[in-house]
Amino acid sequence: MSKPVSDSFSVSDNVARMQASTTLAAMQTAEAMRAEGVDVVDLGAGEPDFDTPENIKRAANEAMREGQTKYTPTAGTRRLQEAIINFYEQKFGARYERSQVMATNGGKQAIFNAVVSLCNPGDEVLVVKPYWVTFPEIVTFARATPVFIDTEETSFVLKAEQVSRAITPRTKLIILNSPSNPSGRVIPPAEFRRIFEVLQEHGVYAISDECYLRFVYPPAEVYSAATLSPELRSRICIAGSFSKTYAMTGWRMGYSLAAPEWTKAMLKVQGHSTSNPNSIAQRAAVEAFNGPQESVSEMLAEYGRRRDWLIPQLCKIPGFNCVTPEGAFYAFPDVRGCLRGEINSSAEFVDMLLNEEHTVVTDGAGFGAEGFIRISYATSLERLKEGVERIRRVAQRLAK
Ligand SMILES: Cc1ncc(COP(=O)(O)O)c(C=O)c1O
Repeated sequence: MSKPVSDSFSVSDNVARMQASTTLAAMQTAEAMRAEGVDVVDLGAGEPDFDTPENIKRAANEAMREGQTKYTPTAGTRRLQEAIINFYEQKFGARYERSQVMATNGGKQAIFNAVVSLCNPGDEVLVVKPYWVTFPEIVTFARATPVFIDTEETSFVLKAEQVSRAITPRTKLIILNSPSNPSGRVIPPAEFRRIFEVLQEHGVYAISDECYLRFVYPPAEVYSAATLSPELRSRICIAGSFSKTYAMTGWRMGYSLAAPEWTKAMLKVQGHSTSNPNSIAQRAAVEAFNGPQESVSEMLAEYGRRRDWLIPQLCKIPGFNCVTPEGAFYAFPDVRGCLRGEINSSAEFVDMLLNEEHTVVTDGAGFGAEGFIRISYATSLERLKEGVERIRRVAQRLAK
C-alpha cells in the first residue's frame, strides 16, 4: 500500500528558506472579510483600480480570432520585441537589439531569470531597504546572500555613497527599484548615474526594476537605466512590466533588456520553466506600447490627485510621519509614534486596523521596515477618504 503524500512530503531546502508573500496574504484577508459581507476598505492592493484600456483588450480579441494561440519563440514574438525596442528608442534614445530583449511572464519573471542566471552560492546581492518583498526571496532561492542597504537615514532614497560602502569583493549584483515599492521614492537622475558609475568601477551587475517607471509625479523626473551609455548598460538588466502602466496585472506581461550573453542565459531558464509568455497577452502588449498612450497619463493624473490629498492628511494623524513619495501609488508612513500600550509593532497596528476598523494596509516589516505601513492609493478617492478616517480613529484611540 502506498504511503499518503502528507507523511512523506518534505519541502525542498530552497523553498523552506522562502517566506510566503505578505502582500498577497493581505489581499486574501480582505477577500475573506468581504465574502462575509463586511464593508472593508482595502488600501493593501498593489495593483491599479482601473480597467485595462479597450484598445488593448481589442488587440487580444483579434489575436484569438486570427489564431495567434500557439507557442511563440521563448523570447516573445518578433513584433513584441520590436515594439519594446521602438519604445525605448523613442522615449529614451536607447538602441537595443533583438538579442537583448526578452518577453517574460510579468516583470517578476524577468527579475527571477536575471538573478538565477547570474548568481552562485556565496555571491552577495545588494538589496535596498525597504525592498519589494520578492527581491530577497529570489536571491535566497538562487542560494546567493542578500546584503541589505538601509536607507532610512536618507528618507529611503538610495545614495551612491551607501552603495559604495556596501560593496565587498563578493558583491555580484544589486537590485534597484525606482520608483520604489513600498516607499514610492524616486532616485533623482544625477544620483542614479552616480550609482551606476560606482557599480561600473567595481564590476558589479545591476537589475533596474522599472515596473513603476511611468508613474512619476512632476517635478520629479522619470529615469530609466536605458538612458545610460551602452558601456554602463553592459552590466545592467532592465526589468520592465506592463502590469501597472497599462492596468494589466492579470495578463502577466513583462520583459527584460540586457546584454546578449545575459539574455541567452535567461532564455535557458525561461525556456525550461514556463517557455513563452501567453501568446494572446503578447499581442495585447504590442498594442499597449504601439497604441495611444492617453490612458497612462489619465491614470497618472488621477494617482497624482489622490497623492496630493492623501499625504497632508496622513501627516495630520497623531503618531504618523510621512514623506511625500514622488512615484508609484504608495504612501509609506512611519507609525512608530502610534506604537504604545498593547501595540508594539507595525504588524500589531495593522491587525488592529483590520479587526477594529476593517481597513487593510500592509505591514512595513515584510518590506524590511518595521514601524512603517504601506498604504496603496490605487483606490477611489472616496474609499481613500473613508480609509484615512478609519486609520485616524485607531491612531486617536492609541494616542489617549
Ligand atoms: C517593485 C515591483 N517589481 C516588480 C513587480 C512585478 O510585477 P509583474 O510581475 O506583475 O509585472 C511588482 C509587482 O507588484 C513590483 O511592485
